[in-house]
Amino acid sequence: MFQPYQQPTPVVRPRTEDDFPACAAALIAVHEVDGYPVEGVADPDAWLRPAGLMNAWVAELAGEVIGHICLTEPTDTDAAAVMFRETVEGAAVDIAVLGRLFVHPEARRHRAGELLTRAAMDHAASAGLRLVLDAMEKDQAAIRLYERLGWRRIGTTDHDSGHGLVPAYCYVSPAP
Ligand SMILES: CC(C)(COP(=O)(O)OP(=O)(O)OC[C@H]1O[C@@H](n2cnc3c(N)ncnc32)[C@H](O)[C@@H]1OP(=O)(O)O)[C@@H](O)C(=O)NCCC(=O)NCCS
Repeated sequence: MFQPYQQPTPVVRPRTEDDFPACAAALIAVHEVDGYPVEGVADPDAWLRPAGLMNAWVAELAGEVIGHICLTEPTDTDAAAVMFRETVEGAAVDIAVLGRLFVHPEARRHRAGELLTRAAMDHAASAGLRLVLDAMEKDQAAIRLYERLGWRRIGTTDHDSGHGLVPAYCYVSPAP
């Protein structure tokens, strides 16, 4: 019987230790195509374990780990967190920083990026957290994704690209 072709749907779940090799492989492929992260991928395992790590998730597509996202505690060097805390709204809530979002270039446009971001946003909503992030101007696919999900731009900062300072935009997640 005729079966209409179905796009595979990504599945998002909490990251485990077993996911590191696949996450590292995806990150290296992302860096080659997008130059993300700008600091390079000499030590993917360390980059995937940032200071203040709170939660991390991966996306699987057809059984393969193809994407990643995490939340970290804000520091005084997180421009978006500093900016949001200076607002009346931001001073009244607990904040976490969304970051390390990437999807393998060959697995894009299947909504993995969206579903990863939604998983982090759903967790934040249930934990009573507002999320902040900053995105470099060059990362336009990510910027479109955040804005599609209702994130609000609250300012601009500079990021060290390794070849000088480049603009980055600071965002806050939509109010629950
Ligand atoms: C940003 C990023 C994570 C998005 O990942 P993704 O899995 O492709 O994200 P989505 O599939 O949810 O959305 C991407 C696009 O595909 C589209 N799309 C999703 N499913 C689709 C489908 N079935 N058919 C057609 N288009 C589809 C979305 O509408 C979106 O379109 P747009 O870019 O024109 O707005 C990815 O591009 C990436 O890893 N970029 C490099 C790293 C990076 O910039 N990280 C963030 C730094 S702040």
